[in-house]
Amino acid sequence: MVKLSPSILAADFTRLGESCAAVLDAGADMLHIDVMDGAFVPNISLGVPVLAALSAHLPAFYDVHLMIRHPLQYVKPFCDAGASLLTFHLEAESDPWRTIRAIHAAGCRAGMSIRPATPPGAVFPYLGELELVLVMSVEPGFGGQKFMPQAAEKIAAIRAEALRRGLAPEIEVDGGINLSTAPLCTNAGADVLVAGSAVFRAPDPAGAIAALRTACGAGGA
Ligand code: DX5
Ligand code: ZN
Repeated sequence: MVKLSPSILAADFTRLGESCAAVLDAGADMLHIDVMDGAFVPNISLGVPVLAALSAHLPAFYDVHLMIRHPLQYVKPFCDAGASLLTFHLEAESDPWRTIRAIHAAGCRAGMSIRPATPPGAVFPYLGELELVLVMSVEPGFGGQKFMPQAAEKIAAIRAEALRRGLAPEIEVDGGINLSTAPLCTNAGADVLVAGSAVFRAPDPAGAIAALRTACGAGGA
């Protein structure tokens, strides 16, 4: 079944703990934590202290998405703060092999993300070392953007290459996920859907999560 990872970027930050607990109760599989540094992307969100506070307060699988330059420098602080999975961008300025090794050494699962302009083949050399590949379906930096349909082709290309080599990394997609775009992604081979606005801004998060799962139907991985 498809996994849902609501992005806390769309949460009410004045009631962050309660809102996160509510989406977990509503059936979310994990929490997606968007970290932005104002340099890799033109926005600043939150960092280590917020993750540490949340993870100490609320046991969950923390799916941490680093949209920052020099991610290698920050691997240990984020893993120590409670990240379960730490995803960095291939386009960020750290050696990918060293970054993956550092994430594993810190006891986390390793994910690699690519921006919309980066071709899927860019992740192929690393597939055997990664627990997850994150395909961005919007330009990273802001919630509430429109899904770019090319993401589905990229997911399919990565899934095909993984299958060809007998590998099974999870494939996650992030940006503009809603009832119409979610099935395009799961049909292409995505296992994990990030959804910010569609879950946290829904009047009924439990209903929104259930509807997303239903929309993915039998196509859900
Ligand atoms: C964008 C972030 C996303 C974003 C998704 O840079 O990585 O996780 O919050 O938000 P929606 O689901 O609203 O597009
Ligand atoms: Zn994200």
